[in-house]
Amino acid sequence: SHANNSPSETYPETLIATLPMREGWSTPLVFYKNFWLRSPMLKDLLLAQNKFRPRHDDTILATNPKSGTTWLKALAFTIVNRHRYTFTNHPLLICIPQDVVPFLEIKPGGPEYVETLPSPRLISTHSPFSLLPPGISSLGCRIVYLCREPKDTFVSRWHFERKICKDDDYPVSFNDAFDMFCEGFSPYGPFWNHNLEYWKESLRRPKEVIFLRYEEIVSDPLEVVRKLARFLGVPFTMQEEESRVVDQVVNFCSFESLRSLGVNRTGRVEHAGGKISIDHSSYFRKGKVGDWVNHMSKDMGEKLDLLVEDKFKGSGLEI
Ligand code: A3P
Repeated sequence: SHANNSPSETYPETLIATLPMREGWSTPLVFYKNFWLRSPMLKDLLLAQNKFRPRHDDTILATNPKSGTTWLKALAFTIVNRHRYTFTNHPLLICIPQDVVPFLEIKPGGPEYVETLPSPRLISTHSPFSLLPPGISSLGCRIVYLCREPKDTFVSRWHFERKICKDDDYPVSFNDAFDMFCEGFSPYGPFWNHNLEYWKESLRRPKEVIFLRYEEIVSDPLEVVRKLARFLGVPFTMQEEESRVVDQVVNFCSFESLRSLGVNRTGRVEHAGGKISIDHSSYFRKGKVGDWVNHMSKDMGEKLDLLVEDKFKGSGLEI
């Protein structure tokens, strides 16, 4: 019965029912405050705006989906917990990376669950910056934003959507999906506004918001891991450098290493109220920079490049 629900619990559904809705991806998306979202995630985001109590020592890992969330979660969790676990009793040996850092707006995380965590918390989100619960900026919470080159992000999204869709025949062609992505109609899209909002926040609060790129981790994982550890307030010591702990973290969280673990090869989770079903293995596809050339025509690549150039013009952001 809904009779006992508090207004804050019934309000999101009522609101969501009034929003523009559009089909095309594996689930319909609703348009709320300039972003396209899956309704179950929007519901939890709206709840989070009432219920989430930011703490000054929270760290938020924010990503546009398919930009390397899985990798960032594994790296950040391993860095901050490196004195608690060895590489032989490590939670990532038995949990998928998605689960070691809970999402603010996606189960098994969610606003109520993250409230129960001890400080200092690591919390992840795909939320656009403008839809994060209030207080995160004013309290000076750390934010790590990871973005990825849009052509590769789209190719990753395309493959993922086909895998998670419960219908055997995914109804959308590559070209139609590409057009939707370029229109800004994609989960948590428009992707350029997602990137730009966090970019601007990183300029406003440079000490507390770090803006990373998937490609930079690929090209120099050791340096990024050092940078991330400093940013998170747990820099590697001389002694750790001498015993090559940074290499160990990088190797442990590498695509090959994580993908080969049993927990990441089998099993699946359901999201969006059972409408999508994600095999753990779908979080690990190829893990390469520049895979777009194998799927997209040169013309499409140029079209997306020009679009991004235009959207980012004057912002100082280059991807
Ligand atoms: P591809 O589809 O291009 O292979 P997200 O975690 O945000 O959903 O992003 C998924 C993308 O990150 C996928 O890209 C996936 O293969 C890649 N990925 C996952 N784990 C990785 C890791 N440890 N190192 C590098 N890339 C990884």
